[in-house]
Amino acid sequence: MITSAIGENKNFYIETYGCQMNVADSEVVTSIMSTAGFVQTPTLDQADVIFVNTCAVRENAEARVYGRLGDFKHLKKANPGVIVGVLGCMAERLRKDLMESESFVDLVVGPDEYRNLPKLVDNAVAGERGIAVRLSRVENYDDIIPFRADGISAWISVMRGCDKFCTFCVVPFTRGRERSRSLASIVREVEDLSKRGFKEVTLLGQNVNSYLDQSWDFADLLAAVAKVDKSMRIRFTTSHPQDMSDKLIDTIVQNSNVCNYIHLPVQSGSDRVLELMNRTYSAEHYLKLVGKIKQTIPGVSLSTDIIAGFPTETAEDHRTTIELLKEVGYDGAFTFKYSPRENTKAWNMADDVPEELKVERLNEIIDVQREISFRKNRTMVGGTVEVLVEGESRKSTSEYCGRTETNKMVVFPKNGFGAGDYIHVRIERANSATLFGAHVSC
Ligand code: 5AD
Ligand code: SF4
Repeated sequence: MITSAIGENKNFYIETYGCQMNVADSEVVTSIMSTAGFVQTPTLDQADVIFVNTCAVRENAEARVYGRLGDFKHLKKANPGVIVGVLGCMAERLRKDLMESESFVDLVVGPDEYRNLPKLVDNAVAGERGIAVRLSRVENYDDIIPFRADGISAWISVMRGCDKFCTFCVVPFTRGRERSRSLASIVREVEDLSKRGFKEVTLLGQNVNSYLDQSWDFADLLAAVAKVDKSMRIRFTTSHPQDMSDKLIDTIVQNSNVCNYIHLPVQSGSDRVLELMNRTYSAEHYLKLVGKIKQTIPGVSLSTDIIAGFPTETAEDHRTTIELLKEVGYDGAFTFKYSPRENTKAWNMADDVPEELKVERLNEIIDVQREISFRKNRTMVGGTVEVLVEGESRKSTSEYCGRTETNKMVVFPKNGFGAGDYIHVRIERANSATLFGAHVSC
């Protein structure tokens, strides 16, 4: 008897919002769907199945997805046979809402249920709407090889979930408890990517440095991955200050291909606010850690996340955040206005910093950081940096762009090299976000 795959003759389209974990998850979804016979299409019009992989970390992220769902609703009206699935963190958080008030949505599927997607789509084709939002303590998709087009840079999810329960954050509720993939399978994945010509991998986890596989911690994983191909750059994100061990700092410096760049969110410079956030460190402890990192890893580049306007934040709290930014001298910062999230502990605290004040503080943080970044970048003018060429620059077809190991974006004229090459660039000018220069042979 010949049996046909569930996805035979069906195309699926996937759109991804939010963090890099979601990008990595969409690659897992693509792999699962392709194995079931579905074919990925980049065009919405050709899709039999439309997935939107969503983010719930802030209200505006959800608002964007709701806006996009409006487009899919029209599409579904014109073509009732198309299946619409909401995946990811919003599916987990708003399961009931989505099923009840968005009647054109056929499937609501949380981050730990992607293996069931082909079956759920099959049921939906037969007219059965589906919801699958169970969170797992073990699912890590370890055996699934994510689908990736050939390229220079790959994201590898090495652990899922978060046990930190920062009081503002919905992630522990939408992604569940921490669990790590096996070291062996991650190393195999990196070996495969190296053979395919990838030049850079970023190890991903909501809390990547709390990785644990039996007795192997994140430093062991980093060392094992770094050994695979010394010409491959290794990055990782996001690190929690609490899990930034001496062993990990030493491992970064001991492996030349592990990039000297650490994203180490501080969130606030005020001890009182840090405590309310349940961040488990004081500003002094964080600054000591930064001191140790800078001393051990010469030329290290650091970035952070900052939240402006957390409940009860005073002008004085805000001032200490600005001072901390200046003291650390970050190379970059991702900055956010506090957004209350249901279920979190902070949801029960009054959101008492008025919107205008949140905006004012956020803008001040952005301005101060821009000035710091500009000053740091300006010191690089006249020097030469090694850059991994990523591709054409966004603004000009005659220029390429690429990054330094410290994650600085560099733009330079094309000159006989291509994406994936390591070249040397002499820096001629800089702004707060980008370095500009020209290729030199060294
Ligand atoms: N409001 C604002 N920012 C938030 N983040 C997480 N939750 C919230 C929230 N409720 C930010 C934190 C985190 C980053 C990924 O998003 O700074 O580090
Ligand atoms: Fe959210 Fe905190 Fe976990 Fe990061 S460490 S994902 S901010 S709970």
